[in-house]
Amino acid sequence: MRFLPELFENNRRWAERMRKTDPEFFERLSASQRPKYLWIGCSDSRVPANQIVGLPPGKMFVHRNVANLCVHSDMNFLSVLHYAVEDLRVEHVIVCGHYGCGGVRAAMGDGSQGLVDNWLHYVRDTRSRHAEELERLADGDARCDRLCELNVIEQVGNLAHTSVVQRAWAEERALTVHGWIYNLKDGLLRDLGVSVGAVEDVDGAYRIRL
Ligand code: CO
Repeated sequence: MRFLPELFENNRRWAERMRKTDPEFFERLSASQRPKYLWIGCSDSRVPANQIVGLPPGKMFVHRNVANLCVHSDMNFLSVLHYAVEDLRVEHVIVCGHYGCGGVRAAMGDGSQGLVDNWLHYVRDTRSRHAEELERLADGDARCDRLCELNVIEQVGNLAHTSVVQRAWAEERALTVHGWIYNLKDGLLRDLGVSVGAVEDVDGAYRIRL
């Protein structure tokens, strides 16, 4: 093998280990997937979704992008959400941000990062909406950490406003959207306490009759 042989070697060992602990693992998994969770997280290499919640393959559907954004016109995000909710029938959608997020940090500054500036405009919108609160905080790190949290809360709202989520609620299916944040410094997750599981929790302007 010419390229990246160490990764193929890791992979071979991993597959062998999995087969050893559960000989039918791959056969069973290749037949179908039944994940209960959809994870929407940051692309950051330090926040590997399955690993930090201790879930093996097959247990969590995953979508990741820079700064864990749920954008109403993003066909990639919408397709993942639609498939996870309508076909896989996940019961929980988790938006997980992380402190020290490079995307959020970029949106706190005034420098240009190139193309990604356009994507991070959504984080700047959130920053602008919460400018007063952010300015009251002591220093740049505290402001950045708070914007990481506010960004997650914003995405939970965006998810609750989608027709995909509201349709599930209209059909009385159990579906809850959660906002979590991960701390790179200790590896721990925190629930931001903004879970929504019913259309009654959604601002009237965003309620869709389905
Ligand atoms: Co990040």
